[in-house]
Amino acid sequence: MTDTKPDETGSTCPPPGPALDQREPEYRSPTGEPVNAEPGARGPRGEALTTSQGVVMSDTDHALKAGPRGPLLVQDFHFREKITHFDHERIPERVVHARGAGAHGVFRANGAAAELTRAKFLRAEVETPVFVRFSTVAGSRGSADTVRDTRGFATKFYTDEGVYDLVGNNIPVFFIQEAIKFPDVIHAAKPHPDREIPQAQTAHDTFWDFVTLHTEATAHTFWSMSDRALPRSFRMMEGFGIHTFRLVNDAGNTTLVKFHWKPRLGVHSMLWEETQLTGGFDPDFHRRDLADAIEAGAFPEWDLGVQVFPDSPEQTFEGIDLLDPTKIVPEELAPVQIIGTLQLNANPVNFFAETEQIAFCPDHLVPGIEPSDDPLLQGRLFSYLDTQLTRLGGPNFTQLPINRPHAPVNDNFRDGMHQTGVHPGINAYKPNSTGGGCPFTALTADRAYVESPTPIAPPARKVRMSANTDAPVSFSDHYSQPRMFYRSLTPVEQRHLGEAFAFELGKCEDETIRERGVQMVAEVDTDLAGFVATQLGLPVPQPKSTVVELAPSPALSQLRGAFPVDGRKVAIVVDDAVDTSMLDDLVRYFQRAATSPMVVAPHAGKLNHQSGIAIDRSFATMRSVEFDAAVFLTAASDHRVDLLIGEMWRHGKPLAAAGAGEEAMKRNGIAGDQAGAYLGEDLERISNGLVDALGEHRVWARFS
Ligand code: HEM
Repeated sequence: MTDTKPDETGSTCPPPGPALDQREPEYRSPTGEPVNAEPGARGPRGEALTTSQGVVMSDTDHALKAGPRGPLLVQDFHFREKITHFDHERIPERVVHARGAGAHGVFRANGAAAELTRAKFLRAEVETPVFVRFSTVAGSRGSADTVRDTRGFATKFYTDEGVYDLVGNNIPVFFIQEAIKFPDVIHAAKPHPDREIPQAQTAHDTFWDFVTLHTEATAHTFWSMSDRALPRSFRMMEGFGIHTFRLVNDAGNTTLVKFHWKPRLGVHSMLWEETQLTGGFDPDFHRRDLADAIEAGAFPEWDLGVQVFPDSPEQTFEGIDLLDPTKIVPEELAPVQIIGTLQLNANPVNFFAETEQIAFCPDHLVPGIEPSDDPLLQGRLFSYLDTQLTRLGGPNFTQLPINRPHAPVNDNFRDGMHQTGVHPGINAYKPNSTGGGCPFTALTADRAYVESPTPIAPPARKVRMSANTDAPVSFSDHYSQPRMFYRSLTPVEQRHLGEAFAFELGKCEDETIRERGVQMVAEVDTDLAGFVATQLGLPVPQPKSTVVELAPSPALSQLRGAFPVDGRKVAIVVDDAVDTSMLDDLVRYFQRAATSPMVVAPHAGKLNHQSGIAIDRSFATMRSVEFDAAVFLTAASDHRVDLLIGEMWRHGKPLAAAGAGEEAMKRNGIAGDQAGAYLGEDLERISNGLVDALGEHRVWARFS
């Protein structure tokens, strides 16, 4: 319903309706049900199979033939309609971020941003429905989840003032400073165009050719080689808006902010070997993890926070250019202030209708939130709507259920491919007298999106300058922050990063690209370059530039104590001889601890084939990468059990054993006094130990 609004002369806009001689089509969903019917009415209805015109069919397995053995007759409309629809089922995948998974949820503001912005959804206690889509960047729609890549973290807020999209990533910096280079970095990262390999990975010549010739990519490349690019779960990732945005409050005062999502479960990653095994064992690992957790009621949560900076003419903070998306502002310099909490609490009903058809866009802003001049963000403001016109087949994709604003829409837009609205009246233009001047623009700025006046500095130029040309041009300092990032990591994180460089550059076939890669590392840290060079059998280069030595930022390390263990998977490995009441107790214990226990046994079905205990995984269908911890109650002499123990031990996962299970551990050289090993008959003690260790994600002592 369009609301009525007095205009300057006091008249109002009545809700538009058809003229007396007109009638609009009955208001039905695509499947014939009224659109205001209960949820689910958009799906198939009626008992019998029908054509898409609703005509009941008695045979959908055979086409009409001219004789008993064919050929087919064109007059079989059901055959032609069924095949034609099938032929057109696919839409183009996203040009980037093609592989993703999403969920519905709610965002609750705590009001802390009310002083900064007039956006109503950020006022205290306001709850806003959201849809979030997580994604990888480089791979195709069917690629594996656990590849080394940046993850997208895009949130659509259906606010009362229109849709607001926060389209961010899990890495706080970007490869490029200018949007015009986006096709270059993506062409370099995508598979080689001749053979279309390798899929969904950066370990190949064109990627490293680009990033080593294009030094502003160094910061993002260091983050990509870190454990951040191998998240354990979407639920355990930070999210970043990356760019600086401008907030405007009720009084018209402006501040600059950077957005951060902080996961309640902490930031955790997989090990490289785990990601490789998982890619084969379960390519849908992250998608499944998100859906399973929500289905189990372990609703993932993130706090939304902002770093706040004065909106000064220089748009810098502590010497950091706020319009440079390749730089972060360390949290130690500008703490993240929490302004609300996101909870994901419902899985999509239909992947295509929701997750595939959702259209995020940095242009989707509500009053009180504005873009900054960041040249990368400015380019994005153009790109998303443009690409969606092709991907979603024309300009009316905002009418798709997942994209529809929850606020009233009266946009004067008409017609176009896939128009589902039935617009009455003749006055789809302004100004008009035929419609009494309706719809009116807002009389006062209190409801409307009004850009705050910002000075634009002439003359136009292509090469970006520092705000104050006398100041150091931080835009062209490409190494100081990557060094700060590297030095902020713990030794085990640093080792992973070095190994990632060695692997990725080792996969490049062109020796000069490898050499340039090691040179890039040397510009940041000579010890690290020494390690990578040795791995590649190359001489250790000397840095050619001087870096500014910045204070490390401990907030950049993931190893920051203990976090909740909600939804973590604990394997309980048993055989048919297990004491079922003991097993029951254990399962209940781990459920109370908010983890997801899974019974693993030599065969599928039920334990003892008759007990009430269902087996979640048989030895034939399990692999270590699926579990975060394990309890062994069987000595089963089976190579798959030994493989499980060996891999979990190597991957720093806590292990417990009782009864016959101790034998299996000892067989694999694990004793009760080793870090993260809990052996003995006291089930409570060993289970408590296991859960405490799980809170720290891994038994880090095993990596030193
Ligand atoms: C800070 C930098 C950037 C971030 C954080 C970012 C993030 C994202 C995310 C999360 C998505 C997936 C949205 C979804 O789930 O549907 C996406 C898609 C996309 N991005 Fe970006 N992006 C960035 C830079 C750019 C630039 C510079 C361009 C182009 C100039 C661009 C063009 C696109 C396009 C065309 C899509 C596909 C959109 C669609 O088909 O719906 N991005 N980006």
